[in-house]
Amino acid sequence: MVTGASRGIGAATARLLAGQGYRLGLMSRCGCEELAAELDAWDFAGTLTNESDVEEFIAGAIAKFGRLDAVVVSTGRYASIIQNLDVAPARRPNTARLGFDPDFKPDIFAIPREAWHDALDLLVLGTVSVARFATPHLLESGGGAIVAVSGMEAAEPRLRYLLGPVRSALHGFARLYSDRYAAMGIRMNCVLPGMLANAVAESDLELLRSIPMARAGQPEEIAETIAFLVSPASSYITGQLLRADGGLNRGLS
Ligand SMILES: NC(=O)c1ccc[n+]([C@@H]2O[C@H](COP(=O)([O-])OP(=O)(O)OC[C@H]3O[C@@H](n4cnc5c(N)ncnc54)[C@H](OP(=O)(O)O)[C@@H]3O)[C@@H](O)[C@H]2O)c1
Repeated sequence: MVTGASRGIGAATARLLAGQGYRLGLMSRCGCEELAAELDAWDFAGTLTNESDVEEFIAGAIAKFGRLDAVVVSTGRYASIIQNLDVAPARRPNTARLGFDPDFKPDIFAIPREAWHDALDLLVLGTVSVARFATPHLLESGGGAIVAVSGMEAAEPRLRYLLGPVRSALHGFARLYSDRYAAMGIRMNCVLPGMLANAVAESDLELLRSIPMARAGQPEEIAETIAFLVSPASSYITGQLLRADGGLNRGLS
């Protein structure tokens, strides 16, 4: 199952997994009709912030395919989470890399309470709901893997990414989940993408220069990382945060 599958990382992952022989259930708010037709997948329109949508999505996919082996949660771009909120736009860093910028002092209390709630609801509780309804089916299959797509701003919080701490809560959940279900054969890991071409303009040379690889990543490269983490090739990896960011962040998590 892939959530957030209509575009970006989710769509790239769905294409890659379908090519590897997975039969897929796809979810996004608008649905993934075209992609589902292309991949002969099952498509469900619903939001991750509504638990009954998540339950219906998973039940429908099980009714169609009979078993569950892998779950990818790739929902909601950061910018779209904060776009309607009254949060002062982050000033561009003037340091060579996206590290700590001593001149950048936004007021963290400008983040309204609703913004924290919305981000927690989508990025953390949405993933918890998916795990809640997927787990019985993964257990029935004898095990499986969950990958949550997160972001680099959590492992190394910066004021520039105001809602980054919310990702840390997701990572905490992933670690608890992996503790609980590792012995039952279910692994859970997070992928932390850096800056991707679907979010950063190729013309933004200043930003791209801050990446050691000097280029934005492609959603397809993140899809490869996700496919590794749901595959038996990563059978001894669980509870981890895996950065796929062109070398941007290298500290301990
Ligand atoms: N792209 C990057 O540079 C980058 C970097 C770091 C981290 N990330 C993270 O990676 C994840 C995916 O990013 P992306 O670039 O692939 O984003 P994207 O291209 O904007 O795609 C987001 C997907 O999530 C779906 N979605 C949004 N809200 C939803 C909801 N409430 N319920 C169900 N589906 C929902 C969207 O479809 P609908 O609109 O139809 O719902 C779409 O399929 C996000 O968590 C993002 O923050 C991305």
